[in-house]
Amino acid sequence: MKFFFRLQNIIFALFFVACQQIPPQKSPINKVFGTLNKNGMIASAHPLASAVGVEILKKGGNAADASVAVFFALAVVYPRAGNIGGGGFAVCRWNGGNKTKPVVEKTTLDFRETSPRQAYKDMYLDKDGNAQLQLSLEGHLAVGIPSSVDGMVELHKKYGKLTWKELLQPSIELAEKGFAITQNEADYLNKYNKDFMTNNSKHLPVHLIKPKWHKGEMLYQIDLAKTLKRIQNEGRKGFYEGETAYLIIQEMQKGKGIITTEDLKSYHSIWRNPIIGNYKNCQIITMAPPSSGGIALIQLLQASEKYPLRKWGHNSAKTIHVMSEMARRVYADRATHLGDPDFYKVPQEMLLNKDYISKRMSNISLTERTSSQDIKQGTVTRMDSYETTHFSVVDADRNAISITTTLNGNYGSKVMVAGAGFFLNNEMDDFSIKAGVANQFGLIGGVANAIAPNKRMLSSMTPTIVEQDGKLFMVVGTPGGSTIITAVYQTILNVLEHNMTMQEAVDAKKFHHQWLPDEIMLEEKSFPENVQIELIKYGHTLRYVPSLGRMDCVRVLPDGTLEGGSDRARADNMSIGY
Ligand code: DON
Repeated sequence: MKFFFRLQNIIFALFFVACQQIPPQKSPINKVFGTLNKNGMIASAHPLASAVGVEILKKGGNAADASVAVFFALAVVYPRAGNIGGGGFAVCRWNGGNKTKPVVEKTTLDFRETSPRQAYKDMYLDKDGNAQLQLSLEGHLAVGIPSSVDGMVELHKKYGKLTWKELLQPSIELAEKGFAITQNEADYLNKYNKDFMTNNSKHLPVHLIKPKWHKGEMLYQIDLAKTLKRIQNEGRKGFYEGETAYLIIQEMQKGKGIITTEDLKSYHSIWRNPIIGNYKNCQIITMAPPSSGGIALIQLLQASEKYPLRKWGHNSAKTIHVMSEMARRVYADRATHLGDPDFYKVPQEMLLNKDYISKRMSNISLTERTSSQDIKQGTVTRMDSYETTHFSVVDADRNAISITTTLNGNYGSKVMVAGAGFFLNNEMDDFSIKAGVANQFGLIGGVANAIAPNKRMLSSMTPTIVEQDGKLFMVVGTPGGSTIITAVYQTILNVLEHNMTMQEAVDAKKFHHQWLPDEIMLEEKSFPENVQIELIKYGHTLRYVPSLGRMDCVRVLPDGTLEGGSDRARADNMSIGY
């Protein structure tokens, strides 16, 4: 009880501090550092979730305990992406063994949603074979089997030290007692108010709907608290069976959804080997398929080794041009070769082979763009409502966990399970719903990522851990759909090649190329005119977007201090350590 009293006070104090926008810390040589602490660090999308994680660490919990607690806290305080109705991936680097015989375990947990058993390849096509784009994005048919709760149960089972009940308690309190929303959250709730009404017309989520939300107003989520209590008391069964499962199935029936009791009961996350690759003296530990992120990231980093990026300079025209050319080729591979490895034989070895990568990049010109036009066309991006969230955790024993989790769009399918208080994902849109038809991120695909029953949809989420000279060095990740891979790639190079702190690497302006559409996306008002002119001279088309990447990362400094780097400029993210 005392703990939670303390927790609440700390939470409110931290929230107050967060609202004051503490200026970043500077060293005598003017480097901008993020949060610096010796023992443990949580970098997440919300100060309240980071605060929950730090309390768990202080209480003797390890990185897995903190991750579970942060995960459920985000489901409460960051409802547009934090979730129990979505899925995700975790990359873990765990220190086992003892001093004389240290054993480092590197593993990943795939808690990606699956398609329902009644799903089929052409389920989003009309009778003339035209893709009905809205159906995979909004409403009950867009929903994959929610997989986050199973993922957290598995993570806790394998590594957790504290009790499951303790880890759920802070999020239950936040849901029941409410919390003050940020300006960002108010803006998003206002923006999607109409969608909440359209997609939940038979049972309005009244606690979310009001004429206008303002910063600082309290959000109470009583139904969600009840669901979290069932999960707290019954673990996996509290979600996939009994009352919660019943409410999900009821909800499905209201909107012609196809998820069944059996779908829920049989969902299981999978421990998978990570994708491991090297960049100079670093080892990159990242996510395997059904994420495309790991393979793409290693391809990009390995291809980058031979270019003098440091000499060319951060975000110089030459650097942006060559990195975009590499990305063009890597995303073309993604579209053709990547899908759920349990359904499609992903040519992983070939894609990661050094000779293959070098040959693939061999026709990059230093002064001229290669056209994407002789490869089949995709149509342009359909929507701008993306949402996912990433958090990075390092504990006192230097165990590290990198987790990216998503509902896909903002508030997912916009369908809230009536009586259970949480949003369901719209992850089905990550499948290729028709060969060559772009999904909401403008990504295209074909056979490898076609819909089939009980299959995992291809993802771009790229939770990653970097070792340097055999030691833990960085934990990185971000939301951003297709742009996740290039944002993670740039953030790693910002530190390794451009000598940035973790915070500077997070803050640095980002760009993105994904083969199709054939254009470089740039964060608007962020790149000097001469750089833009030179890129146009190389033949590139430029497109400006409000922001790219919202990283939450941790770096270990040479003296062992942890530096949390969270995106305070583009969003509400915050690193908190102790
Ligand atoms: O798994 C994926 O690749 C997407 N569902 C991720 C969506 C996302 O990152 C949206 N974020 N801002």
